[in-house]
Amino acid sequence: MIGGLFPVGVSDQVDQLLNDAQGGQGTVLDVGCGSAIWATNMAKIFSRAWVVGLDLNAQEFSDAPENFEFIQGDLDQTLPKFNGRASIVHCRCVAQHVRDPQTLVLMLSQTLRPGGLLLLADGDWTVYDQHKKLVEPFKWWNHGITNSNPAEPIVLEKDACGRSWYASWLDFFGNLTRSKDYRPIEELVKNVDTLTVLDSHRYLSPINWPGEGIENGEDLGRILNINQRDFFVGAKEIALQAGFSHEMVEVWGRHYEAEIDSGHFYNLWHYLTAQKRETPINL
Ligand SMILES: C[S@@+](CC[C@H](N)C(=O)[O-])C[C@H]1O[C@@H](n2cnc3c(N)ncnc32)[C@H](O)[C@@H]1O
Repeated sequence: MIGGLFPVGVSDQVDQLLNDAQGGQGTVLDVGCGSAIWATNMAKIFSRAWVVGLDLNAQEFSDAPENFEFIQGDLDQTLPKFNGRASIVHCRCVAQHVRDPQTLVLMLSQTLRPGGLLLLADGDWTVYDQHKKLVEPFKWWNHGITNSNPAEPIVLEKDACGRSWYASWLDFFGNLTRSKDYRPIEELVKNVDTLTVLDSHRYLSPINWPGEGIENGEDLGRILNINQRDFFVGAKEIALQAGFSHEMVEVWGRHYEAEIDSGHFYNLWHYLTAQKRETPINL
């Protein structure tokens, strides 16, 4: 969506921070790196930089470049060790999953050295149709379904009323996994006075179709179809743990896949770049 590992608008700054002959070795942090696909690619491109991936979950890297290091741990404990040292901090699709998203953004800013860059991205749990109108989720909770009393799947099929099962799965997981203190990343950054926003952008990514006027739409559509199918499979266990019956999850899955294969949907993503001020604003 952004056309590369970072938006083209900050490529000169990235280059300066990581390739500057006088600047010593630049440090890049990928916070909540997951598979570290972003961090390892950055390490390959910027071979003089030290690229660190941080994540709660253990990861194995068979062919990671030598200038990449993975640190397993909770970001609350690991981030302060990097205070004032990072040239670039990347944090994608993590902020909504931590207990205190505002404190996370503050901690990210503290790891940056003056002039350093924050690359912050997050996904939304809403679905849009081909006319970019919000798609209404099928509200399972209006149908007497509670954790202790999962409804019969047949009732669900009758009662869906044309509303979206796909949007409903995203809605369900958003409500389950998002911190109650989460705000869109633009708002979280606004509250940190050592950061200056360089650019803030919203992207619509098509699922299983190229979208209308979307750059790289063909590829995005294909990737998002695979991604959203995998998401259903990966999230199934959580739905079962939340009290939904196997039958219900199966019905949900059938509708979900049929919808993303035949419908023209978009997902919404937020991407923001910010720079650490050289001097605090209140001095
Ligand atoms: C949705 S994934 C995003 C992965 C990666 N940033 C990407 O875009 O491909 C969220 C990641 O944040 C990590 N995470 C969540 N809370 C964390 C914490 N408190 N400390 C470290 N990592 C955390 C999870 O383990 C998971 O890998």
